[in-house]
Amino acid sequence: MTMDLTRARRETPATDHLLHFNNAGAGLMPQPVLDAVTGHLQLEAAIGGYEAETQAADALEHTYDAAAALLNCTRDEIAVVENATRAWDMAFYSVPLGPGDRILTAQAEYASNYIAYLQVARKTGATVEAIPNDESGQISVAALRDAIDDHVKLIAMTHVPTSGGLVNPAAAVGQVAREAGVLYLLDACQSVGQMPIDVQAIGCDMLSGTGRKYLRGPRGTGFLYVRRSVLERLEPPFLDLHAAAWTAPDGYTVRADARRFENWETNFAGKIGLGVAMDYALGWGIDATWARIQALAGDLRARLRALPGVTVTDIGAEQCGIVTFTIAGHDPAAIREALHAHHINVWISTCNSTLLDMTARGLDTVVRASVHYYNSEEEVARFCATLAALYA
Ligand SMILES: Cc1ncc(COP(=O)(O)O)c(C=O)c1O
Repeated sequence: MTMDLTRARRETPATDHLLHFNNAGAGLMPQPVLDAVTGHLQLEAAIGGYEAETQAADALEHTYDAAAALLNCTRDEIAVVENATRAWDMAFYSVPLGPGDRILTAQAEYASNYIAYLQVARKTGATVEAIPNDESGQISVAALRDAIDDHVKLIAMTHVPTSGGLVNPAAAVGQVAREAGVLYLLDACQSVGQMPIDVQAIGCDMLSGTGRKYLRGPRGTGFLYVRRSVLERLEPPFLDLHAAAWTAPDGYTVRADARRFENWETNFAGKIGLGVAMDYALGWGIDATWARIQALAGDLRARLRALPGVTVTDIGAEQCGIVTFTIAGHDPAAIREALHAHHINVWISTCNSTLLDMTARGLDTVVRASVHYYNSEEEVARFCATLAALYA
């Protein structure tokens, strides 16, 4: 399936002066998202924040429908929160854990998640174990299956880590979780918007995502999916008058839907913008987006490998739009700055974001170039030509 690149770039104003390969940091907002966010801020300024919320009630509610369509779930299984970290935390800290309980995760787990495992392990006496990789660098599903016993209470994994290429096999892990009857939390922060995400096919009980990356939504937006059948078992670590009702002087009732993981005050403009970004992503077709991202990233990897001194550091059986590399003798942060001077955006991934994975691979810092469907083949070629001119 081909995509209308001219329209995609026209609706992404910065593409006329900026080569943006930092979509895993924050994708460029398309014009309709920008208009929705700024429009609501202007409405707040014109008529008052509470009044603007009332007027925009339909648009705010629509965000739940958009998320449900994107993930293949129902609107009452969605919470909209400040960011992916808070979404993930609300799910993770709700899981009842005690001494001897086991949390299983993967080698390329994101730092914020692993820090939370360690904190909860210290407090409860639970343990955390990172399952080894297979030969391709993704989590070994066979090793995961072997690790299952009655003490395993949670499988929690990052779908697409920040450190290069890898797409962990979320659905195969889900199958193990289903067979074992164990809760499964998927951090889909870097995969939502980039590739098809179907919570039924994956078999996860909880899934967290962010607005700003591959969905091209506003910063400071995130969302959580929680399967209806596990909702009642998960009491959020924080409750307020939105998540629960104060029903008696000494009693409260927690909401029945996933909004029990939200809190009352929120970024209303961002929430509307998130829904518009989800609609926009669905409008382009997630399958077509994924195919184009993989083609662009494949081209980029091949061209980078042809450059002297460049090492592509991506792993995994299936690879995504996040391309990482080093150049012998050059500091990745300095490479980012040199490219920035040429109006090219990349970012760096450091060891402290995925400590187990990068330490095991002997990597400290890598350059991260993350492509999206609105990037062009010409940009991939120009990116590599610029590197060649700078570092030949
Ligand atoms: C795998 C992963 N999970 C979670 C996050 C955190 O997302 P947010 O900044 O929206 O909280 C990131 C951010 O880079 C990430 O890479």
